[in-house]
Amino acid sequence: MSVHFLQVSDTHWSRNRIAGEVDSKERTERLCEWIRGLDMPIDFVVHTGDLVHGGQRADDDGTSTAEVLQRFLELPYPFHAVVGNHDHRDVWPKWMGMRSGQPLTHRSDRWAYHFVCENERCVVLDARDSVDIDPRGCICDEQLQAIRLLLEQTTEPITLFSHYPPLPLDCEWIDQSMLMVNGVELHELLSRFSDRVRGVFFGHVHRPVALQRDGVLYASTGSVSLHFPNGPQDRAAQVQSDAISFANYVRLGDEGTLIKTQWIAW
Ligand SMILES: [Fe+2]
Repeated sequence: MSVHFLQVSDTHWSRNRIAGEVDSKERTERLCEWIRGLDMPIDFVVHTGDLVHGGQRADDDGTSTAEVLQRFLELPYPFHAVVGNHDHRDVWPKWMGMRSGQPLTHRSDRWAYHFVCENERCVVLDARDSVDIDPRGCICDEQLQAIRLLLEQTTEPITLFSHYPPLPLDCEWIDQSMLMVNGVELHELLSRFSDRVRGVFFGHVHRPVALQRDGVLYASTGSVSLHFPNGPQDRAAQVQSDAISFANYVRLGDEGTLIKTQWIAW
């Protein structure tokens, strides 16, 4: 039995153009049209963070989050979402409803939960932390402990979703400013159970990247709206509004984790 999901990320939905020229609202509309037109099995769609652009600002009223969520929740598939550094987390329960699974911790201020699809356990992490470390993330001790218990007390294969990459990606500005600050701790835990961990899927870096370390697969999908350089010597998040939106079509199963990068040309 296999599970298929579609990973999208970093829509940065905004009523106004962002980065000078990008119509992220239109790109998100086109993405949802594209998803509706796909003729392949999809068990769920997961968005790995930054639904909106600037939702973390104090003056954000949450209506952007409501509008973009409406687009995704209207899709004919179960929808899951990970909190990103641009998201207005406080309004998520109002617009998302209840989390579609079991809470990962008792902390109500974290959007972290797990669910089972067929025989695959999926874990949605919330590593959004204080503004002091933004745009880096930090996974709280409660979530680390909950993941450890899931790995020790359940038997299903496990797939995790995060906004932040846990490990360095050989790019100066990303490694200095975009990682989960305690991602190595998460990795050391997952690597002990690498035979059961299907992968960790993340966003935030706005381009497709894949890393395998100690038997654990980490993979991102690109942004729907704008992109960043990721070369070893790139020193800044210079916006590249390439005429392309990305998605990952992923199959989980005993034949391995298969990722097919998809794109929509503009
Ligand atoms: Fe982003």
